[in-house]
Amino acid sequence: MNFHVMTLFPEMIEQGLSTSILGRAKDKGLIDFEAVNIRDYSADEKHHKVDDYTYGGGAGMLMQAQPIYDCYKAIEEKIKKNRNCEDAAKIDAGGKRLRVVYVTPQGAVFNQQMAADFAKEEDLVFLCGHYEGVDERVLEEIVTDYVSIGDYVLTGGELPAMVMIDTISRLVPGVLNNDESAMTESFGNGLLEYPQYSRPEEWMGKRVPAILLSGDHKKVDEWRLEQSIERTKERRPDLYEKWMIENPPKPEKKKRRRKKTAENKEENS
Ligand code: ADE
Repeated sequence: MNFHVMTLFPEMIEQGLSTSILGRAKDKGLIDFEAVNIRDYSADEKHHKVDDYTYGGGAGMLMQAQPIYDCYKAIEEKIKKNRNCEDAAKIDAGGKRLRVVYVTPQGAVFNQQMAADFAKEEDLVFLCGHYEGVDERVLEEIVTDYVSIGDYVLTGGELPAMVMIDTISRLVPGVLNNDESAMTESFGNGLLEYPQYSRPEEWMGKRVPAILLSGDHKKVDEWRLEQSIERTKERRPDLYEKWMIENPPKPEKKKRRRKKTAENKEENS
């Protein structure tokens, strides 16, 4: 999977994504990222200006349409060449449009489901904004997805783009060593992950729950599911409600789930 990031700070993207798991995945050829400097596409040869005042007044500068559009066109050209494809509107083998994500607090809030959807793409383009924003006309022209990482405002789009690229990359087959960890972790099944323990068996007077030492895998799985449910109920009631609607307990399980919950509470207190 190839990530193309339109940015004013390419070194931030390159450094941020080149270490650890993503760096290894890149070396193995599983993912690739290129950070493209929007400034290189400025029509202003002298100062490479990319921003200007906002029509109608208001504080701050706005990123102009032309450098962003030309930067996008260069990326599109490269992708077309790589894929031997002439039609930009049908750049995907399946005839789907190339997806261009504008990272903005005005977008839909990013989540695991969106990450899984993006992970199906062969190429994904990100546009990182700065200053007071971007001229609306170029957004209308190139953007397919408006995505935020949460209801707060950062100084620019690079960190949100990296958050999204990291999340999407680890869903690309082969990027994680252990495929299972992408399945069982938080959100994989709509619940938060259960608590986990490593050696020693006792630390600061706290013992590892006995069931985890029992060797009974069925019981361990049941315990983990109960813990996941409890944790989600306590920390993320919004997710719990959704999960309960999608996984209504069967009548005989209802009683058991209530009993287990009471037991867990007692054990943890
Ligand atoms: N740019 C600034 N703040 C942002 C946010 N919360 N999400 C995405 N892009 C942003």
